[in-house]
Amino acid sequence: MNEILITQEQIAERVAQIGSQITKDYAGKKPLLVGVLNGCVFFMTDLARAIDLPCELAFMQVSSYGNAAKTSGAVRILADLSCDIAGRDVIIVEDIVDSGLTLAYLLEQLNARRPASLKVCSLLDKPTRRRTDIEIDYLGFTVPDAFIVGYGLDYAGQWRNLPYIAVMDQT
Ligand code: IMP
Ligand code: MG
Repeated sequence: MNEILITQEQIAERVAQIGSQITKDYAGKKPLLVGVLNGCVFFMTDLARAIDLPCELAFMQVSSYGNAAKTSGAVRILADLSCDIAGRDVIIVEDIVDSGLTLAYLLEQLNARRPASLKVCSLLDKPTRRRTDIEIDYLGFTVPDAFIVGYGLDYAGQWRNLPYIAVMDQT
């Protein structure tokens, strides 16, 4: 069995808090949430509804893992944004920052497109295996060095739809 790490209630409470914080920080602005597919799906949609501002949603898909549980280190864009982010207040929405390589690559790519501002919101942070110096502006929870599934996070495409966050049973 996958061991529950963060319950559905704890997720809802934290997402509401982050939404309120973003609502305050971006008052008078129209932030553009850029979700990193597929892991961001549930977090992105819940977070967007917790932000009381006229924000927009956009998505990208990147790949660094294949079906492996550890990063290969190589990041590539599988699906790019369909909108221009120049002059926009962009918030990247990620499921988890592990090595930080995906985020470092995304920050570099998106910064080059001249947004008015660029911040990072990640549901989870797994700092033990970080290989880059990355700052997360809005963070849900810090998790231990284990393989995490649920609420968008998968292993080989499975477990994304668990309503809670769990440590994957590797047995
Ligand atoms: P990073 O580039 O090593 O920071 O990893 C980025 C991506 O790897 C995340 O956006 C996730 O999609 C995936 N990932 C990293 N750790 C986990 C995990 O524990 N469970 C599921 N996916 C993970
Ligand atoms: Mg991801």
